[in-house]
Parts: sequence; structure tokens; C-alpha cells
Amino acid sequence: MILWNDRIVKREEVQIDIEDRGYQFGDGVYEVIRVYHGKPFQLDEHLERLERSLNEIRLALPYPMEDFKHLLQQLLDKDPVTDGIIYLQVTRGNALRSHAFPSEAKSVVTAYTREMPRPTKSLAEGIGAHLTNDIRWLRCDIKSLNLLGNVLAKQEALDNDCGEALFHRGDIVTEGSSSNVFIKKDGAWLTHPANHLILNGITRRFVMRLMADLEMPVKEEAFKIADLLNADEVIITSTTQEVMPVVSIDGEPVGNGEVGEWTRSLQNAFERHIS
Ligand code: PDD
Repeated sequence: MILWNDRIVKREEVQIDIEDRGYQFGDGVYEVIRVYHGKPFQLDEHLERLERSLNEIRLALPYPMEDFKHLLQQLLDKDPVTDGIIYLQVTRGNALRSHAFPSEAKSVVTAYTREMPRPTKSLAEGIGAHLTNDIRWLRCDIKSLNLLGNVLAKQEALDNDCGEALFHRGDIVTEGSSSNVFIKKDGAWLTHPANHLILNGITRRFVMRLMADLEMPVKEEAFKIADLLNADEVIITSTTQEVMPVVSIDGEPVGNGEVGEWTRSLQNAFERHIS
């Protein structure tokens, strides 16, 4: 089933126009929300970020956010998942192709649920990461449908037998192609400040609260490639990757190449919150 504007319909019934601006320009925003044991995780936080992304690109939902929240809950009731995701997007709608905002177009909302098991094997063993140049635009804080820079980076990572690409702008490490990154160095976690160069991840914020609970110092401070390569522990965080250990970078081990102690404590704390 698909939530299509204000109706929940079969996939075959959805009609997306060839001139939908999401399709032609990537003119829209999206969210990916985790579902654990049938319940959405951090739903309000995701909807708040959606509201922010919408405002930043001067787009509005066709109804109040509260109604959207109810529609998403109805979608999940009609098409339940145990461990999965809700994907949703809002585009600027259908109009004759022309770059400037159309005067008459109505935003188009779509959402669906999908079963997606937790990445338990990688969570246990960790993944390899690959460094790549951050070629994206300068508004990475907006969860925009334009993901070409992210797509190219992720593919480059896979081509290098790695699970994630870590972006750098010059010397500074920003984030992953679909995740935020933290390093543990000199007894503290460091992560890039939440400015225009990264997406302020919902998991990033959640994990920072876990760090505080566990009395692990954490600083929102930019760090360099050399810091990443010399870190004791590295993790990436995202809705689907949770607290994912990075155990090697371009083939070089992080620390001793094993999942670190602080990472394990964070994963355990995360697990307690979702079970
Ligand atoms: N990606 N940075 C980027 C570039 C991302 O695409 C994501 C998430 C994150 C982490 O954000 P969050 O913790 O809110 O999931 C950071 C989603 C999961 C995706 O596009 O599939």
C-alpha cells in the first residue's frame, strides 16, 4: 500500500506525473523512519526535521503535519512491518517543466513501508569505509531528494569493497554518504558540527544523548583526515545502520582492527532503547 497525498491506495493506483518536479529536478525532500517491533522510532523527531527541510526549500505539505502523522500511522496499520522502515517524500508537484517555482503546482506526498531486517552481522563485525572527496552542494543540512553525490560516493565505496564512503572537504571529514561519523580520540567522541555541511542525523542526536548517559565526553568539533586515520574507534550512525562500527579505512585498521569498547557500550545502550 502507498500513501499518496491523503489516500492509502494500492501501488498500481498511484499516478505520478512525468513532469513531477521530484522526478525532473529532484525538487523535494524525504525522510526514512525506522520501525522496530511494529512501532515507528523517533517519529516526532523525523517529522520535525521534515518540517525544517520543507521550510528551507519553501515547500508546504498539502495538510497540517498532525494529519500527516495520522496518515503515516494509518499506513503502518494497513501495511504493517515488524522491523522495517517508512520511506516518505514530498515533491513540488506537477507542472510544465521550467526551473522556477510553478504558481499552480500542488505538492505531492508519497510514503510506503518496507520490511528491513537490522544489519546484525555488520553491527557485530563492523564495516570498512572508503574516503572520498565531498563534491556535494553546500546545503547538506536539507534532506533533499538530490542524492547524486551520495549515490556516486556509495557506489565508489562498494567498488572498493567497503560498506560506506566517508566524505572529506579538503582536510575535514564531514559525514558518510548516508550516515554521520564519530571518532573516538583522546578519551572523547568527536563529530562534525551540525551546520550546512552535514545532515543533522536523528540517530546522531539520539546517540549523543546515549553518550551523555554513559558519561562519554562528546564534542561537536570538525576533525581532520589524519585524526580519523589515527582514531581509537570510529562509528557511523543512521536510521538503518544504527551504531555501526568502522573497523578499517581504505584497508588500514582502525585501532587494533576490532570493534572498540566504547562502541560496544553504545550499541548495548541503543539495543536497550529499541527492545
Ligand atoms: N540517510 N547523513 C546523510 C547524508 C544521510 O543520508 C543520512 C541518513 C544520515 C543519518 O541521518 P539519520 O540518523 O536521521 O538517518 C546522515 C538515510 C537513512 C537514507 O537516505 O537512507
